Amino acid sequence: MLLEHRPDWSLVNLDSLTYSGNLENLADVSAHARYSFHKGDINNRELVNRLVQQSDCVVHFAAESHVDRSISDPRPFIETNVLGTQTLLEAVRRATNVRFVNVSTDEVYGSLPLEEPDLKFTESSPIHANSPYAASKAAADLLALSYHQTFAIDVVVTRCSNNFGAYQFPEKVIPLFVTNLIDSHKLPLYGDGKNVRDWLHVDDHCEAILAVLERGRSGEIYNIGGNNERSNLELTTTILEIMGRGPDMIEPVADRLGHDRRYAIDASKIRRELGWSPSRSSWPTALEATIQWYIDNDSWWRRIKARNCIM
Ligand SMILES: NC(=O)c1ccc[n+]([C@@H]2O[C@H](COP(=O)([O-])OP(=O)(O)OC[C@H]3O[C@@H](n4cnc5c(N)ncnc54)[C@H](O)[C@@H]3O)[C@@H](O)[C@H]2O)c1
Repeated sequence: MLLEHRPDWSLVNLDSLTYSGNLENLADVSAHARYSFHKGDINNRELVNRLVQQSDCVVHFAAESHVDRSISDPRPFIETNVLGTQTLLEAVRRATNVRFVNVSTDEVYGSLPLEEPDLKFTESSPIHANSPYAASKAAADLLALSYHQTFAIDVVVTRCSNNFGAYQFPEKVIPLFVTNLIDSHKLPLYGDGKNVRDWLHVDDHCEAILAVLERGRSGEIYNIGGNNERSNLELTTTILEIMGRGPDMIEPVADRLGHDRRYAIDASKIRRELGWSPSRSSWPTALEATIQWYIDNDSWWRRIKARNCIM
């Protein structure tokens, strides 16, 4: 998106290529004259310092991102999401005039009750992280904001709701369910299926991050959401309908530990201040297009599922 829309920008991509990193996803830009890729860990101080010195801004996406993995092994979440973020912040502190955008999540706010549908997270809602993933992202946010306050570095934090779209690692619920259905495998639905998430297309998320990068006020937090709340059961039923299958494909499984009941984002601040609103998340059209992408890109997800033993 940036290479297309910002013709005078150059992009440096630092990624350690963990289980979820995949250079295949970037094949169409890998030879671009204004793009370079560096395989490396955000905890590698020397490498991070060198790359940040050459940059005007850092947009920090790198993370351990899957809640279930944070429940079975929290440690890598602390190493990457907390210590890695601090390593980047130190590099930004040593550089001159580098803006730092910390890409975070609505999960830092914890859970809203199902019974009060008018309640939404605002930027001033208290942090109430319930999973090790959310706690590690909250720690990163607080570190970033503390570096702004203490060292006067230029920091902005974004907190977005659940994303969907092409190239999503197939352990996340939408690509997992779609690819399971393609192979007539059951859909493991957590608990009673009533947990609610707000769904936003990844392209809208990226447009919002760009708006924050270019125009966000330093030291501020911006919520990003689609105003598109669906229960997991509703989401699953819509996927089943689009793919011409019935509810017999649902297999209820034990609920996720500490499973947050509902996330809902009040995104009025980014709308008001930066003029951003979602344009690519219309439901169910954007979901249909996403499902079609997984149908058309069979070999992409089959390789990943086989490599990572995802069923
Ligand atoms: N996917 C969502 O729904 C969602 C919603 C809100 C916010 N976010 C945030 O967006 C960011 C990206 O999420 P995603 O879903 O694309 O995650 P992902 O797990 O699919 O990708 C994470 C990327 O980070 C890289 N990485 C991990 N540890 C690293 C390290 N130590 N050094 C360098 N690179 C490393 C991986 O190789 C991979 O390319 C995360 O910060 C996440 O918290 C995601």
